[in-house]
Amino acid sequence: MKFQFTEENLNRIEAAKRKYPNPLAAVMDTIYIAQEQNGYITDEVMEEIANVLSIDKVNVLSVVTFYTMYHTKPVGKYHIQVCTNVSCMLRGAYDIWEGVREKFDLDNMHVTQDGKFSLEEVECMGACGYAPMIAVNEDFFENLNKEKVFEILDSLK
Ligand code: FES
Repeated sequence: MKFQFTEENLNRIEAAKRKYPNPLAAVMDTIYIAQEQNGYITDEVMEEIANVLSIDKVNVLSVVTFYTMYHTKPVGKYHIQVCTNVSCMLRGAYDIWEGVREKFDLDNMHVTQDGKFSLEEVECMGACGYAPMIAVNEDFFENLNKEKVFEILDSLK
């Protein structure tokens, strides 16, 4: 089925476009809105984003595939991103990564059967000074160890 933005989201996109000198600059806002509506960004969603912004689809694709905050596959209710880049790795990120993988019996970019959790190994998320860190949806958690991560994850309903 063809993806179409809701009327409300089209209004949000128009408001985003007004913030910038050209429609291309509103691509990140628009992808974000699309992801909120659809859950993840498919080829059809990218086509519609390009359509509403009157830009080339490749401009959408390049942004979607660059930033880890955009998903091209379905994710769980809680999408867990574990940074294993240098600063986090040196401070125990792989202990966290392996711990979470074992806890949920999940591989990278997989979702638990109940759809509650998904897991992704990511590169630096810009919180190196507080390494190691994870993100759950849009929340960052920093200065972690495996035990603290499990406490966070166990608190998610
Ligand atoms: S290396 Fe993990 S946030 Fe930068």
